[in-house]
Amino acid sequence: MKLFKIYFSPTGTTKITVDLISRQFNLETIELDLSNKMEDFSKFTFSEKDLCIIAVPSFGGRVPMAAMANIKKLNGNGSKVILVATYGNRAYEDVLLELKDTLTTLGFSCIAAIASVTEHSIAHQFATGRPDLQDKEELIKFSGQIKEVLKQGKVTKDLYVPGNNPYKEYKVIPIVPQVRQECMKCGLCAIKCPVDAISKDNPMLVDKEKCISCMRCVAICPSKARSVDEKSILAISKKLEKVCSERKMNELFL
Ligand SMILES: Cc1cc2nc3c(=O)[nH]c(=O)nc-3n(C[C@H](O)[C@H](O)[C@H](O)COP(=O)(O)O)c2cc1C
Repeated sequence: MKLFKIYFSPTGTTKITVDLISRQFNLETIELDLSNKMEDFSKFTFSEKDLCIIAVPSFGGRVPMAAMANIKKLNGNGSKVILVATYGNRAYEDVLLELKDTLTTLGFSCIAAIASVTEHSIAHQFATGRPDLQDKEELIKFSGQIKEVLKQGKVTKDLYVPGNNPYKEYKVIPIVPQVRQECMKCGLCAIKCPVDAISKDNPMLVDKEKCISCMRCVAICPSKARSVDEKSILAISKKLEKVCSERKMNELFL
């Protein structure tokens, strides 16, 4: 039995979450980064004996389109899968349902799902530092429960996950991070941008139509030359204040 750890994590919190969950299974692990533009995702063969963990952040309550495009290239071939939705303490609305529907169609068997709260990658004052110690303990407990069900061969044939049908419309205010003069044109952001929105020749140039506001370029810039303008941060913070301030719980569906 092999474990395939498959994730889309522009600013790293989804990866922290999926790393922690994966470690609990003590299996030979193969890692697939859904933002890797060089990867041919159709080449991977899974089997009924394998376990996959597929983790994505909520973008407007939906699976980020760039992640979904690569997920759709996978062939489940009967492999079991644990779905993971991370979200910045607002809501993950249709992420788990969208993952479940898509992966079932692709031949995966969805055995469990986790919704996990992680620091908001645009408005960092929400869920700051999460997953924290308490989250990590919960995620370890959830993994233990999944392991037990697997050990006893009692996996569900019809996993319940919350979500709307039809899915909510993808409506996210587009925010294209600004580039300041500190930019050394090292090009790291252009290499790592999941949708090739940044020019490799001149990283100061961003294709606003392509940008998915994932915040990777802001998170990884070695010179801290990229940021969201204050006006947008203020507007988003105001919008999220009411729905994001109370600590949300992690959830397990089994
Ligand atoms: C474009 C965009 C849309 C987002 N939409 C939501 C959302 O609908 N609900 C929520 O709670 N958090 C939302 N977030 C926050 C992310 O889901 C959260 O910060 C997640 O941890 C990011 O994962 P990463 O660190 O792996 O990139 C959004 C973030 C971005 C960049």
